[in-house]
Amino acid sequence: MASKCIITGVPGVGKTTVITGALARLEQEGVRYANISFGSFMFETALAEGLVKNRDEMRLLSKDDQKTLQQRAAGAIAKTEGNVLVDTHASVKTPKGFLAGLPEWVLEALRPDLFVLIETDEDQILGRRLGDPSRVRDMDTYRALASHQSFNRAIAAAYAMKTGCTVAMVTNADHLLDRAVDDLAALLR
Ligand code: AP5
Repeated sequence: MASKCIITGVPGVGKTTVITGALARLEQEGVRYANISFGSFMFETALAEGLVKNRDEMRLLSKDDQKTLQQRAAGAIAKTEGNVLVDTHASVKTPKGFLAGLPEWVLEALRPDLFVLIETDEDQILGRRLGDPSRVRDMDTYRALASHQSFNRAIAAAYAMKTGCTVAMVTNADHLLDRAVDDLAALLR
């Protein structure tokens, strides 16, 4: 049976890196997923409408603009058939507080079977953000990042209550990327 999985993690935790590794491993076994970046769907619409110039500006848009972009992305992604993996955020840190990445209408469109949180220690995430000059990353404090990761666990529980999906945590620690890739691949098999 086709599976719908949502993979999340605070910016810079390395979720895209872990997803790429896990999907390459599964591909060798003949297991295929459509790999969909929710942020890319949102960004293409936001760019076409002149709302942003780069993807890091999206979290600064008004709450209403972000919600409209979410709704349109979810509607488009929901049409994908077969095994689907959606690379997104459990919550987005905006200037007005955390915005749910998957509000009710997005969850209803996506109907996930599995929800994954990619996590690691806050000092490692800060180091990765500092080492990524290609992006305009928030330079959070250790405490702010801990609060974001803990909020993401809380909201994942709400998503599980709403949809009946399971929730799993994958640790992507420094020097242990292979282990994270193994763990995610095992969840997706
Ligand atoms: P999206 O496209 O999902 O985010 P992104 O910015 O591309 O990815 P992240 O910032 O989460 O980075 P990452 O964790 O994937 O890290 P990476 O693998 O690059 O979203 C873009 C925007 O869209 C969001 O900001 C938001 O505005 C919007 N959006 C998306 N979904 C939304 C939603 N549902 N609702 C509202 N808005 C939404 O790795 C980072 C670095 O770490 C790399 O240098 C990598 O080499 C390194 N690294 C990775 N793993 C390891 C390791 N084990 N050891 C050492 N280094 C490592």
